[in-house]
Amino acid sequence: MESNSTKPKPHWHILGAGAIGCLFASFLIRSGHSVTLLVRDGNKAGLFDKQACIRVDSTTDQSEEWTCQAKPSEEVNYTIDSLMVCTKAHQTLAALESIKHCLTPDSTIILMQNGMGVYEQIQQHIPGLNIFHGSTTEGAWQQSPFHIVHAGVGTTQIGSLSGKPANNILSKFITSLQILGVDIGFSQEIEKILWRKLAVNCAVNPLTVLYQCRNGELLDNQQTRQTISLLCHEITAVANAWDHADWLEQLEEDVLTVIRKTAQNRSSMLQDHLRNTPTEINFITGYLLDLAEKQNICCPENQKLYNHVKQLQG
Ligand code: PAF
Repeated sequence: MESNSTKPKPHWHILGAGAIGCLFASFLIRSGHSVTLLVRDGNKAGLFDKQACIRVDSTTDQSEEWTCQAKPSEEVNYTIDSLMVCTKAHQTLAALESIKHCLTPDSTIILMQNGMGVYEQIQQHIPGLNIFHGSTTEGAWQQSPFHIVHAGVGTTQIGSLSGKPANNILSKFITSLQILGVDIGFSQEIEKILWRKLAVNCAVNPLTVLYQCRNGELLDNQQTRQTISLLCHEITAVANAWDHADWLEQLEEDVLTVIRKTAQNRSSMLQDHLRNTPTEINFITGYLLDLAEKQNICCPENQKLYNHVKQLQG
């Protein structure tokens, strides 16, 4: 299927062709944008004549296919104006380094990683980029290269940690997706949103790796319920120490709500573990523990889970 819009719209590059990268590529193509997926060299095999065919299955048995340009990031040698970065947190800095010669201070960049700490890394190693942050609850998983399942419709918020307003490119991006019916907006509270997601990820993801279970199974026994409570208590103490007490009000209730809503899902961390690929633990629990240490706060339950996941990774 090709979009029938003829109006020229900004050309978006998407770095990282996993589930979220392919999902947003499909949204952009549907809304009349042209898209280039930047893939790792190893993914070249899935490309046909510098094109990728993205297949998006929905849970209602519908399936759509969208074609876009795709190329290994090493082959790009021109200026990129609009870039969405959908790589895993631990791959982001290296992935951006590989195309930094294509980026200018005017390039609009949206970071879509789970966890926190990537922004600080980028500021240190590639300063001066025009970065925005995205946080999404869209549920998607990858069946095979360029073939994803859009398992749950969610909300996406974009914002800037430095308080910048949306620029023209970003406003057009958001409006075009809204017209499609995608629940997306620009938020002045992106730091709070990223913190809340970090807190939920700290309470859910490593625990699903410990018990090797789907999210919903965490509610099946008293012991995991109690651990969730302790984890939330520790996470809230860290937020309080950093003056973000009001950001995590009712954290435990929020965590239980997310678990119930995503009961059938395997968390992203469990999926990484089962695929034998590195997890985002350093950018989730690791980030929290760094903040805790700076304020002399003990987080024994988070520490235990961190150690466990790190040990599994070898
Ligand atoms: O990382 C994930 O898998 C998700 O953010 C969440 C909310 C834990 C649901 O699976």
